[in-house]
Amino acid sequence: MTTTTRRLGRTDLEITPIGLGCMPFGGPGLVNRYYAALDQPTATAIVRTALDGGVTWFDTAEMYGKGHSERTLTTALHQLGAGTDDVVIASKWTPWFRTAASIGRTVDDRLEALQGFPLGLHQIHMPHGSLSPLASQLRAMAGLHRQGRIRAVGVSNFSAAQMKRAHAVLAEYGIPLASNQVQISLLERRVERDGVLAAARRLGVTLIALAPLHTGLLTGKFHDDPGLFRDVRRIRRRLAGFSSATLARTAPLIDELRTIAAAHGATVSQVALAWVTSYYGDTVVAIPGASKPRHAEESAGTMALRLTERELDRLADISMIIQDRPRHDGVDPG
Ligand SMILES: NC(=O)c1ccc[n+]([C@@H]2O[C@H](COP(=O)([O-])OP(=O)(O)OC[C@H]3O[C@@H](n4cnc5c(N)ncnc54)[C@H](OP(=O)(O)O)[C@@H]3O)[C@@H](O)[C@H]2O)c1
Repeated sequence: MTTTTRRLGRTDLEITPIGLGCMPFGGPGLVNRYYAALDQPTATAIVRTALDGGVTWFDTAEMYGKGHSERTLTTALHQLGAGTDDVVIASKWTPWFRTAASIGRTVDDRLEALQGFPLGLHQIHMPHGSLSPLASQLRAMAGLHRQGRIRAVGVSNFSAAQMKRAHAVLAEYGIPLASNQVQISLLERRVERDGVLAAARRLGVTLIALAPLHTGLLTGKFHDDPGLFRDVRRIRRRLAGFSSATLARTAPLIDELRTIAAAHGATVSQVALAWVTSYYGDTVVAIPGASKPRHAEESAGTMALRLTERELDRLADISMIIQDRPRHDGVDPG
């Protein structure tokens, strides 16, 4: 299946609007407090389904099990016979209590965990927690890029001002800032107000929407069966604000998603993902996670779905009303 790809920032990498978030491949450890650990056969089945659905890229991180997610992903890719040029892998460096020098020191660990697959996009996982200033971290990334050890440099959870700073430091080396990975969904539209969307457009940076289904809330399954909350780990429930009050507040949005889904023969989650990857033009791509192959199949299927302008705007309006905030705050989303 051939899907239209998008350029990652101003790099020479092409990616599909939907990638696969590989945090659930993190194995036992920190991530496991959030999502149940998946075994290799399940992970391989998820990756197979994503590839079959036309997904060409995967987001992982050092923090997801200290190499466990990267290794599980690339084991799956090897098992499935994927070539190193067939896919793009994005990983992330963990800044906590480390200096910028650790970016260079740990890249071999990343490449070893990727088992022969190149590190397409290397991201600074968050702007805080490092013992070195951001500029030093970006310079270390630029060094790896110059050595050909990574193909593109990205950041995650950066503010508009931090993006501009990162862009300026990389520009000294003639390297574009490829991406900023931030939370964006119908239930999280802060980027429209805090300058991140505007900065991304001005600088030619791709925004990678993390948790585009609001960790499952935008699938509608919890609205169908609130008892499913019981199966969700406490920290995930708390961080995503899972509660009966949230279900009541978001019900009008889920109802509209259902109506639009029915008109297209699609699912609620597909419409929610189509919104996030269409409403902002080509600027935003998404990395939904999956704990079952069926999830990856549905997410990949989003790429065949075309919502009308009217449907996109209707969802935007309802999402703003339930967030109790004025629409766009003067920012043109188109
Ligand atoms: N940079 C950062 O700081 C950061 C932070 C968080 C995440 N991320 C990235 O973003 C990715 C996605 O985040 P996320 O997984 O937390 O949130 P998400 O993509 O919004 O939600 C994924 C979860 O929703 C449920 N789901 C997905 N598709 C479904 C479907 N079709 N039907 C029913 N349920 C479905 C599954 O959960 P259940 O099966 O458990 O219900 C799945 O694990 C991560 O893998 C990671 O790559 C980055």
